[in-house]
Amino acid sequence: MNAPRNWGVRIAGTGSAVPERRMTNADFTAILDTSDEWILQRTGISERRIADPNAESTFNLSRDALQRALDAAGMKGSELDLVIVGTLTSEMPCPSTAVRVAAAVGAVPAGAFDISAACCGFVYAMNVAETMVRSGRAKAVGVIGAETLSRVTDYTDRTCSILFGDGAGAAVLVRDEDPALGCIHQSMQADGSRWESLYLPVLPRDVPESDLQSTVRLGCLRMNGREVFKFAVTKFREVIEESLAATRLSANDLSQVICHQSNIRIIEAARERIGLDPEKVYVNIDRYGNTSAASVGICLDELTRAGKLTPGLPFMMVAFGGGLTWASSVWSTRGA
Ligand code: ACO
Repeated sequence: MNAPRNWGVRIAGTGSAVPERRMTNADFTAILDTSDEWILQRTGISERRIADPNAESTFNLSRDALQRALDAAGMKGSELDLVIVGTLTSEMPCPSTAVRVAAAVGAVPAGAFDISAACCGFVYAMNVAETMVRSGRAKAVGVIGAETLSRVTDYTDRTCSILFGDGAGAAVLVRDEDPALGCIHQSMQADGSRWESLYLPVLPRDVPESDLQSTVRLGCLRMNGREVFKFAVTKFREVIEESLAATRLSANDLSQVICHQSNIRIIEAARERIGLDPEKVYVNIDRYGNTSAASVGICLDELTRAGKLTPGLPFMMVAFGGGLTWASSVWSTRGA
């Protein structure tokens, strides 16, 4: 281990991976009482990617996303000393997805573990990784947010199933001599007393009393959409405002606010309340749906590759999800 010191932290490369197969709103109208118009208007989603259960998994989407991030950074897996995967859909409780990803990209014996924070998985993982690099405890960390939510989706539940998609987003964080670079503010919070709004029951005893009268499918995500919606609209605004106050930035000092892609109406409500320009709030929910822990990482990769993160300007990542959890991460970047 390296001696503690306050290093700067830089995102050296990003990557993402999504399954080949598209599931459109029209595909849902064939199996559920719904319509393209309802889904598009109420959520902003047109299609999502769905993993082939025989060929695609959280593990191989994570591996591909991280390999692309390493390629973008011009680095080898052997240079990583830690790999973190944020996910709620690890293949198995043991081993973690992260240890298999680390081995697949040649990062052995890097430390590796998964973080379970639902849709906040990527932002939580970025915050933990950044802290490790900043303190000198790690030189280079692979961070991934990945999900195969299709594996835990009840396709007879029209309020839930239309939202979810599969994918992975990754970033490679490295140390930098300039301590001003990296995360200038981070938050990770949770309120476990509200877990019943969004949960994944394994055994009958996991189903809370409030849901005993409903049809609950074990092994599938169960959500009180209206509750989560109300929580999310308020929390997005609060988290962004708190992060701006803590960094003494104004909303339009940021090059982008990268929001978890939960529902276009949730993102738009927060954007309008804060007075952010539309071009500063990236949206790709139309193409991927809600990919939970993967969504912020996929956005980060698409923005980076499109050159939409202005060098020298800070950007913010913000997410909320099951738990309930919420998190933010504000990054300063190097000028051109
Ligand atoms: N097609 C047609 N009608 C539908 C559908 C559908 N797919 N789903 C629900 N409806 C109906 C309802 O049955 C209801 O009908 P009723 O008035 O006759 O009872 C009506 O539409 C309105 O239902 P609401 O639940 O009020 O619809 P709402 O506008 O709230 O949209 C939604 C539902 C999209 C789920 C919304 O509540 C939402 O986005 N919630 C947040 C979800 C979220 O962000 N989850 C994040 C975390 S995911 C994670 O952590 C893994």
